Amino acid sequence: MNITVAGTGYVGLVTGVCLAEVGHQVTCVDNVQDKIDILNKGVSPIYEPNLDELLIKNSQAGKLSFTTDFQDAYSRSDIIFIGVGTPENEDGSANLNYVYAVSYQIAQTIEKNCLIVVKSTVPIGTNEKIELFIKENLKNDVKVEVASNPEFLAQGTAVKDTLNASRIVIGAESKEATQALTSIYEPFNQPIVTMNRRSAEMVKYASNDFLALKISFINDIANLCEVVNANIEDVAAGMSYDKRIGDKFLNAGIGYGGSCFPKDTKALHWLSEEEGYVLRTVKAAIEVNEKQKFKLIKKARKDFRTFKDLKVAVLGLTFKPGTDDLREAPAIPNIRLLLNEGAKVHAYDPVGIPNFKKIYPTEVHYELSIEETLKEADVCFIFTEWNEIKQMDLSTFKRQMKNPFVYDGRNCFDLKQVNNSGINYYSIGRPSINNYFVKQKVLI
Ligand code: UGA
Repeated sequence: MNITVAGTGYVGLVTGVCLAEVGHQVTCVDNVQDKIDILNKGVSPIYEPNLDELLIKNSQAGKLSFTTDFQDAYSRSDIIFIGVGTPENEDGSANLNYVYAVSYQIAQTIEKNCLIVVKSTVPIGTNEKIELFIKENLKNDVKVEVASNPEFLAQGTAVKDTLNASRIVIGAESKEATQALTSIYEPFNQPIVTMNRRSAEMVKYASNDFLALKISFINDIANLCEVVNANIEDVAAGMSYDKRIGDKFLNAGIGYGGSCFPKDTKALHWLSEEEGYVLRTVKAAIEVNEKQKFKLIKKARKDFRTFKDLKVAVLGLTFKPGTDDLREAPAIPNIRLLLNEGAKVHAYDPVGIPNFKKIYPTEVHYELSIEETLKEADVCFIFTEWNEIKQMDLSTFKRQMKNPFVYDGRNCFDLKQVNNSGINYYSIGRPSINNYFVKQKVLI
């Protein structure tokens, strides 16, 4: 059975590589020649643990290939997975341009009966529309069916999440399509849940929006903890023993980012409004997250009337550790604000700097180490909880900074350790640690 995967972003590439890894014959298609050239050299264009290794292994075994020649790939395909992006439109709705562009190419080039599998996150009802669209644009006399198979991988653990998925959701309207997809996924040996297409499309949004809601909830409670003098870490730990609540996604911080939660919450909210229903919980999650992004700067304004001409050290740029992705990373709007105010921003991130340079090529001073970044700094903001940051020696702040004011948006350090470190430390939902002596130096 010939499998083609359209799109070599996070979803498409990881899907293609993992399908080959379990034994399938896979061709990955992308319209960006540079990406395909890199992939053919055995290098992944995205930073993802274990991806390069499996890419090389399966390419060398002849199970995986990359091409821009969609005509050739689609004409030989029995199954085509669509894994292209569905970014956010200005109004919050999902932009389906890439999905339709690929669907048109498929309709014009398939020469055999074909099952089209939509892995991209698409609004409820889109699979039906794509099927109609492809049928209307078919060039050859072949049968097509569209099935939904949403993706649940997270960046930074994409390969692991795919090879050990919590579940595989298959949404199809015919027994044949369900069976075909079930047999493709059998080698993964994971729970397979089958349903109709609309429900499968909804599972994806409902899952992401639930997780986003969980984060916004814990952030909301963290903000209240600050007001009533409780500690969010103890609160979350106490909650987590209840198996119905669990211990995951209860880390308070400066909000969720990335290419999925922000866009998928807004897309479902937009869709619900279009249907005349107000999805109040998701709306609240979005609102809490928008405010949470600027929580650190708001705190810092109590100590600093302005950031103008101050040396501001920023540790962590990516939206989470383990990825070089900056989409919706809280670091971006915060750094924009600091630069607009005239701050001298010095930043460090283990992998995110090349991408950040595309946004701020010269305005930000990029450093090669945490130590260099903190040197003579007036204030430090932490936006991403990289291990390197979490494991740093706390005395570095006091030793390197002019005034050790540290605003930690990811609760990287144990408060007991911070207590003895002689720094002014503010985190999210936990008591602040103020060193009066240090504070005097800045305000007077
Ligand atoms: C997310 C989901 O976790 C995946 O299941 C889903 O498949 C994926 O979106 C997608 O739709 O493609 P991802 O965006 O890669 O994956 O990252 P997460 O690990 O979920 O983190 C998202 C954001 O939430 C990050 O900014 C992270 O810092 C934040 N977060 C996460 C918290 O603030 N607190 C937490 O407790 C957990």
